[in-house]
Amino acid sequence: MQAISPDFDPDLPEDFDSAFETFAQLRAKCPVAHTDALGGFWALTRYEDVKRAASDPATFITSVQNVIPKVAFTGRRPPLHLDPPEHTPYRRTINPLLSPDRVARYRTYAQQSAKDLLAPLVAKGGGDICGEFASHLPVLVFGEWMNVPPHWIEPLHSAGRAFILAVNLNQPEEMKRTSLRLYDMARDLVAIRRAEPRDPGEDVTSALLEARYNGEPLPDEMIVGMVRQVLVVGIVAPTVLLGSIAVHLSRDKALQDQLRADPSQIPAAVEEFLRLYTPYRGFARTAVTDVEFGERTIPAGEGIALVYASANRDEAVFEHPCEFIMNRANIAEHMAFGRGPHNCPGIHLGRMEMQVMVEELLAATRGFELAGQIAPARWPEIGAISVPLRFT
Ligand code: HEM
Repeated sequence: MQAISPDFDPDLPEDFDSAFETFAQLRAKCPVAHTDALGGFWALTRYEDVKRAASDPATFITSVQNVIPKVAFTGRRPPLHLDPPEHTPYRRTINPLLSPDRVARYRTYAQQSAKDLLAPLVAKGGGDICGEFASHLPVLVFGEWMNVPPHWIEPLHSAGRAFILAVNLNQPEEMKRTSLRLYDMARDLVAIRRAEPRDPGEDVTSALLEARYNGEPLPDEMIVGMVRQVLVVGIVAPTVLLGSIAVHLSRDKALQDQLRADPSQIPAAVEEFLRLYTPYRGFARTAVTDVEFGERTIPAGEGIALVYASANRDEAVFEHPCEFIMNRANIAEHMAFGRGPHNCPGIHLGRMEMQVMVEELLAATRGFELAGQIAPARWPEIGAISVPLRFT
């Protein structure tokens, strides 16, 4: 057995740029890295290794640990916590409700909501673009998609944001408390739909209640778990990614002006931002058998992070990977939304939200710049969770 020493320390203080620099060093010198911190885990930092693990769900399972650090104290939540084939009925149910056509219906609502959210920031000349804008928009769109009662939006936002901040500050008790609050909301929503079902072709909770696996209804706690999972997972990534985009555009004024002058370039820019500032580093798997990666062997049963954020900056796949290059020939190969059976079902919704947020932020301002300290995200995210901007 090889000796395992800490190759890096994910507990070290970071700033917005240093996390990306650490992964560049690991890709070059120690691409399959081990650490004893955060419960002990391996980090796959190269594109091909991440792709291999994500694409082989028989060897690399999610049912033991699906995120680093391990934050799920409160039960199994489909689809992420289940392996195929148990995972399949949940995806079969949710995927059609997140198709491109479906998502297009929410664009106008997202645009109007973004304008409304930005108006007070414009009036006061700026603000925290994550906390005051980007964390709200996905909740509003998501609430519309899930048909939640309108008075749930504010509690949903505060519970979701509290959860993210608790993860960020590593406060397990607070994480647990907010997770349980979100569970209560999920349970209530399931009870409401059970009492008054909606068209399963239109409503995800009703669709889950109607779904069958081997002829049986899906277990109640699993339906609640899935509603609970989507309540958070669809909110975090857009917030962190918009924070990172705001940092980038504050530093690159020419690009900011270019996109403001020609918004038709925004979808291509968002795609490159998704690659460059992929908001996740801590989605995880556990190998069911010892697995070889180059010269290293990862023993069965140990947590493995698929560092999508690092894979998307792998110089073996993307030329000048740390630079923003619009319309890269191979941009479609990025893995910001994952790979394999657990790839993101919210890809079209997430993309639409990002495009709308960038479009509306640029349209509402003549310019913006950093106005204070960026708060960097911690594992499992990477990017920014608070970005103070001054509108000029
Ligand atoms: C910028 C936006 C987003 C990004 C970058 C993103 C990224 C990802 C990634 C990388 C995964 C793969 C996890 C893994 O390999 O273990 C994932 C899974 C998932 N995402 Fe997203 N996501 C985004 C938005 C959303 C939205 C809006 C939803 C709302 C429906 C959503 C729902 C989910 C769910 C439910 C999973 C688990 C899928 C499964 O296990 O089968 N995501 N996401």
